[in-house]
Amino acid sequence: MESVIVSSDFQSKIDQDANIEPKDSMPDAYREHLIRQISQHAHSEVIGMQPEGNWITRAPSLRAKQILLAKIQDEGGHGLYLYSAAETLGISRDEMIRQLHSGKAKYSNIFNYPALTWADIGAIGWLVDGAAIVNQVSLQRTSYGPYARAMVRICKEESFHQRQGYEIMTKMMNGTEAQKQMAQDAMNRWWWPSLMMFGPHDSDSPHSGNAFTWKIKRKSNDELRQKFIDKTVQQAEVIGLTIPDPELRWNETKQMYDHGEINWEEFKRVINGNGPCNRQRMEHHMHVHAEGAWVREAAEAYAKQQH
Ligand code: 3HC
Repeated sequence: MESVIVSSDFQSKIDQDANIEPKDSMPDAYREHLIRQISQHAHSEVIGMQPEGNWITRAPSLRAKQILLAKIQDEGGHGLYLYSAAETLGISRDEMIRQLHSGKAKYSNIFNYPALTWADIGAIGWLVDGAAIVNQVSLQRTSYGPYARAMVRICKEESFHQRQGYEIMTKMMNGTEAQKQMAQDAMNRWWWPSLMMFGPHDSDSPHSGNAFTWKIKRKSNDELRQKFIDKTVQQAEVIGLTIPDPELRWNETKQMYDHGEINWEEFKRVINGNGPCNRQRMEHHMHVHAEGAWVREAAEAYAKQQH
C-alpha cells in the first residue's frame, strides 16, 4: 500500500464528497494515481479508434459509414477531454505520449484484438462501449473535478455508441444464416475481453485501496463487471445471441448471474504487450504521431505569433 500524507483540507473535502480541483492542495500520491488512470483512459480512447477506423471504407452502407465516422470522431474527442484533464495535474501531452510509446503507460486490453468482420463493429459498440458506459457512469462521481466533468460529457456520447452497436447486432441476428453466424462469432471473440476491461478481481487490484480512500473509484472492478454482465446477458437473449460461457446461470438467491472464471493469464499477456494487435496498434500510433508533427509545430508557431 502506498504511504499517504494527507493534508486535512484535502481529506475533509473528500469526506464531504466535494470535488478536488486543480488548484487545491493534494497528496502527490493522489496526483500520480490520477495521472496514471486518466492518461491511460485517454490513450485507450485514441487507440480504440484504430480497430474501428479500419472499417470506415468497408461499411455496408452510407448510413453505416456516417454512424461509424461520427463514433470514431467522438472517441478522438473523448481522448482530448481526458488528455486535457490529465494536463491539469501537471503532466504534459508530450510526456503522456512518450509514456505510451515507451510502454510505461497502458491502454485498455480490449483494443488489442482485431476487428475481423462488420459484426465486430457491432460487438465493439454494444459490448466495449457498453462496458465503458458502466465504468464511466460510476466515474461521473469521481473526486477529481475535471475528470468527473469529462465523464458527464463522454457518457452522453457513449450511449449513442452502445445503441448503434446493438442495432448492428440486431440487424444481423434478423438477417441471413451467414449474418447470424458472423454475429455469434463476434460475440464469442469479444465477450471475455470485454469482461477483462473492468480490471482484475478486487482482491488482485493493487490500486483499488487508494482509489476508494480518495473516492476516485465509487464502485469496485467486480461490482461494475457484474452490473455489465447482468444487463448484457438479457440484451443478448432478446436478439438470440448465446453468451460463450457454459457456466453462466441466473442465481435467484443473489439476484445476479453466476459466470465462469476469466482467463487472467490472457489478460496479463495482453496488458503486458503480448496481445494479438499490441505491436500493430503501437506502430500505427507512432507512425501517425510522427506524421502529424508538422501540425503541432504549425499550431505552436501560430500560438507564439499571437502572443
Ligand atoms: N486494460 C489494461 N490495463 C488494465 C485494465 C485493462 N482493462 N484493467 C486494469 N489494468 C491495469 C491497471 O492500469 C493497473 O496497471 P498500472 O499500475 O500499470 O496502471 C493494473 O492493471 C492493476 O489494475 P487496478 O484495477 O489495480 O487498476 P485501477 O484501479 O486503475 O483500475 C480500471 C483499472 C478499472 C481500468 C481503472 O483504471 C479505470 O476505471 N479507468 C478508467 C476507464 C478506462 O480506462 N477505460 C478504458 C476503456 S475506454 C473505452 O472503452 C473507450 C470507449 O469509448 C470505447
